[in-house]
Amino acid sequence: MASLLKIDVSPRGDASYSRQLGQTFAESWQAAHAGGTVTTRDLAKQQPTYVDLQWIAGAYSKPEDQTAENKSALKLSDDIIAEVKAADTVLITTPMYNFQVPAVLKAWIDHLVRAGVTFSMGADGYKGLISGPKAVLIVTAAGDYGAGSPIESYDLLTPYVKHILGFVGITEVEVLKAGNTAGIQYGKISAEDWKKPLDEKAKSLATA
Ligand SMILES: Cc1cc2nc3c(=O)[nH]c(=O)nc-3n(C[C@H](O)[C@H](O)[C@H](O)COP(=O)(O)O)c2cc1C
Repeated sequence: MASLLKIDVSPRGDASYSRQLGQTFAESWQAAHAGGTVTTRDLAKQQPTYVDLQWIAGAYSKPEDQTAENKSALKLSDDIIAEVKAADTVLITTPMYNFQVPAVLKAWIDHLVRAGVTFSMGADGYKGLISGPKAVLIVTAAGDYGAGSPIESYDLLTPYVKHILGFVGITEVEVLKAGNTAGIQYGKISAEDWKKPLDEKAKSLATA
């Protein structure tokens, strides 16, 4: 049975454009995968903890040497990794904050990337240990960072998320850049007109 893991990031609830496009994707995906399961991890409602001393001590100890405090600090990391490994498709919907990922998404990434669990270091260099899922990234931004835009290179979020996913083994990543939400804010385009072509792209990614 197909499984979709949806990671939502924006704190703006139903008003969030990245969540709306993610919902379009999820509905199309569900229609195309009868009986498939959709699991949502809402990082605005379930804000991940930060990596701390107990987390580090546990992550760099053998399982048999981990204390109860180490294990407890790693529990969220274990859950996040298990969710990603169980998915066929991982959908991340996120706004751009200061040209990068919002802090809650960075905290999720810090739980996902774990030496010996989701990546290994050997004589041949680094190896991602997650195999199977593909990923889709939907990113909203006030500005337009699309191909050919004069500020395309300001987008540090897209290459970073692709790099991180590839680092843990998820190399097939599709990106839907949904820029120019400032156009809606300043009345240059209606939300409906802005969303229409992006909804179509989300649908085609969901059924690809
Ligand atoms: C704290 C903060 C930082 C932001 N930084 C950027 C930025 O660097 N570049 C940009 O184009 N838009 C930036 N924005 C605008 C959001 O990316 C934009 O409003 C986006 O559409 C929000 O997505 P959402 O509707 O899913 O919440 C920022 C917004 C906030 C609240």
